[in-house]
Amino acid sequence: MSWLRDEVLRRADIVEVVSEYIPLKKRGSNYWALSPFKPERTPSFAVSPTKQIFKCFASGKGGDVIRFVMEMEGLSYGEALRKLAEKYGIAVPDTQEERYTSRERQRYLALYEAVVQFYQRRLTGSPAEAYLVRRGVTRESIERFRLGYAPPEGQALTEYLLRLGYEEETLVKWGVALRQEGTGRLYDRFRGRVIFPVIEEQGGVVALAGRLLADEADQPKYLNSPETPFYRKSEVLYGLWLARPVLRKEGAALIVEGYMDVISLHQAGFTQAVATCGTALTEEHLIRLRRYTREVVLLYDSDSAGQAAAERAIEPALRAGFFVRVAHVPEGKDPDAFLQEKGPEAFQEVLHNSLSWPLYLAQRVGPTPSPQERYTLLQKLGQGLQALPDPYLRRAYAEEIATSLHIPPEFWESFERIEAPPRSPEAVPPTRVTAERELLRVAFTYPEVDFGGLPLWAVLQEELKHLTFTQPEAEALRKAFCSWGENRPPSLQDLMEALLPEVQDWATGLLLERYTLSEHWRTWDDSPLVEDPVQIAESNLNLLHLAHVQHLLQENLRILETLLPETPSYEEHLVLHQVLLRQRAEIALRQGLILPYRQAEG
Ligand code: UTP
Ligand code: MN
Repeated sequence: MSWLRDEVLRRADIVEVVSEYIPLKKRGSNYWALSPFKPERTPSFAVSPTKQIFKCFASGKGGDVIRFVMEMEGLSYGEALRKLAEKYGIAVPDTQEERYTSRERQRYLALYEAVVQFYQRRLTGSPAEAYLVRRGVTRESIERFRLGYAPPEGQALTEYLLRLGYEEETLVKWGVALRQEGTGRLYDRFRGRVIFPVIEEQGGVVALAGRLLADEADQPKYLNSPETPFYRKSEVLYGLWLARPVLRKEGAALIVEGYMDVISLHQAGFTQAVATCGTALTEEHLIRLRRYTREVVLLYDSDSAGQAAAERAIEPALRAGFFVRVAHVPEGKDPDAFLQEKGPEAFQEVLHNSLSWPLYLAQRVGPTPSPQERYTLLQKLGQGLQALPDPYLRRAYAEEIATSLHIPPEFWESFERIEAPPRSPEAVPPTRVTAERELLRVAFTYPEVDFGGLPLWAVLQEELKHLTFTQPEAEALRKAFCSWGENRPPSLQDLMEALLPEVQDWATGLLLERYTLSEHWRTWDDSPLVEDPVQIAESNLNLLHLAHVQHLLQENLRILETLLPETPSYEEHLVLHQVLLRQRAEIALRQGLILPYRQAEG
């Protein structure tokens, strides 16, 4: 994949690719356009042909040409890469590993296909069929969801598969059979259960769930397949393979808790319903869902466990950038039971009455909350707003909260400023954050400048290895920069692959600073350096070293205070204190700093 990536980046021109989507205008050495991601009136979308990166100041998104195509087309990384490869006529050979996993995957899907067909054949005339009919599942739904029956004896499937030529190890490894402790004999994982195949978006069966026909003590109601390399519970949404086309067209996904809820809803025409496979809703689920829609309606069981689960699902959904509503089925029912009893019109009403997440949270508290309840509500609302990655979304919800709950948008503004909370509990002085930024900026902007006989990037790579940055994005980029093993300076593009999207956004912002582009391009774009990178690097390194020594000093002092002079280690800490004081003085001297008298004394 990495070879392909290099080849694509070598041949693709970001200006050319972007121009196919939006008209670009040249200004200075960069190109500008209206943001394709956000409505705006003045262009704040920049493309740098020399750095081969883009930065959208309206949405914050930024990255290389591959990221651009991902964002524009809603593609995964691999898909965008392949699309560009195709455009630039690069043949995509399967790597050894890819060919292996895809062959392995084919075998996996073939096994599960055989399993499902076996269970489907067993359904006719079985107690499971009667059970499903009793629960109001139609023949058509049985077919569409490929429901089946695992007979109770517990050997039939395994024997069948062994006869087909499958090896015992394969059946165990992929979760369809279990090995009996004493005898070592294989037996079926699912026995005497209705089978719900879990089907992924491309239509392949990747796992099974099996439901008991009647409650049994010490048996789980639903039994799920184990996770395998091809089935991750935190990613797969049950029903998504059927909901996909509707979601593309109509919007909101309906997230429910159970397999039966999905089936009933689809049967009644609500084909936008999906469920997690017995787990909480995760960001991975939502990232998959986001390819089709930006809206979710959470519809969990109306018991208190269900409502608590709905509340817990709000934050990950907001974090993934969704518009979130919560619907509520009355009378302690789950969506399936409600639909079967009251019919689709009543259910439509339930959806119609769904509440935007802030109002849902407020309604959970009731009309006259106590100060404590109000306090908790405010916190939850604030956390929700903060989870939103997009300032426009945040504003939209802040306004909704203002209108409906009478909390003015200004109330949240102080929270908005803490966008990337520092990881350390102590507040990080702004100079430190700036120093981290500046060091990374010069490392990527002037890598080859001479710094005491060595290229600047090499010196910084060595120096930064010993530091930890406080700002999470800066720290991620520092790590990537320091683990770069080649004998040439890495460009930002070289490291892009290793960085999370948020870090990519931050890093591109670092290199394409808005004011550099829009205000100063007239005067010094393309002109020789007007800043001194060596000086910038030196002074900021000093600053961080100083902060580091300062920190050690404080730690040491804290320890000293707890020790009695007769303790054996007292002496050691006293010496350390002297050493650190001297180090601090040296750095300060280099920096031309005069330390305050109190501090110099320690
Ligand atoms: P519920 O207990 O609400 O079941 O579990 P349900 O969906 O209403 O099922 P019916 O109507 O009784 O048939 C909700 C979901 O939690 C998971 C399943 O995904 C189920 O659909 N679950 C539940 C398990 O994985 N294991 C269990 O033992 C129970
Ligand atoms: Mn149910």
